[in-house]
Amino acid sequence: MAERPSWNSEYEGSPPWDIGRPQPDFVRLADAGKLAGQVLDVGCGTGEQVMLAATHGAEALGVDIAELAIQRAREKAQERGILATFQVGDVMHLDRLGRQFDVITDSGLFHVFSDSERPAFVSSLRSALRPGGTYYMMCFSDEQPGDWGPRRVSKAEIRASFTDGWSVRSIEPAQFAIAIAIESERAQAWLATIERL
Ligand SMILES: C[S@@+](CC[C@H](N)C(=O)[O-])C[C@H]1O[C@@H](n2cnc3c(N)ncnc32)[C@H](O)[C@@H]1O
Repeated sequence: MAERPSWNSEYEGSPPWDIGRPQPDFVRLADAGKLAGQVLDVGCGTGEQVMLAATHGAEALGVDIAELAIQRAREKAQERGILATFQVGDVMHLDRLGRQFDVITDSGLFHVFSDSERPAFVSSLRSALRPGGTYYMMCFSDEQPGDWGPRRVSKAEIRASFTDGWSVRSIEPAQFAIAIAIESERAQAWLATIERL
């Protein structure tokens, strides 16, 4: 997939998802010891989820297609003294990393893909997640009212995307913290826990 020109340019300003701290639902996962071992964050933006995993002892890598985001992530990690790795790359080709992770995290990436892009993304994820590894994915929920922001995703769509070779362990209600006030500073989300068989 070619880079959408908007992704890098989003980081010339302050995108609403870039809240300067990890998403609270991922903090809960980290505190529960779920972000352990070798962790990959896909579509990492400026790296908050990557640094969260690293500060909980994980060997953490973040990949994003936007060079500006990766540059900021590296600067933030250096300023905070956190050991984490960031790489510019296309998540549609995670096989090119040449390694498999225990955990893959995704905060706000899955919902950017169209229906036709999803199968290729899921197959790419599979190439980078070890058997028995877990994909934690948070996306905009179809229970979020209004039509601003990214597309809404239903539980059924999540389940339909992860059929053969995956086990959807849970899809729980969650919330995205966002950096602008649109009715509230939270948006309804789904947090899916999906195991690679
Ligand atoms: C809504 S943002 C979420 C960023 C970050 N996870 C966060 O929570 O702040 C989606 C991110 O996915 C990245 N992205 C979109 N398509 C991508 C692709 N094909 N490969 C890698 N990154 C991609 C964008 O550059 C953007 O940083």
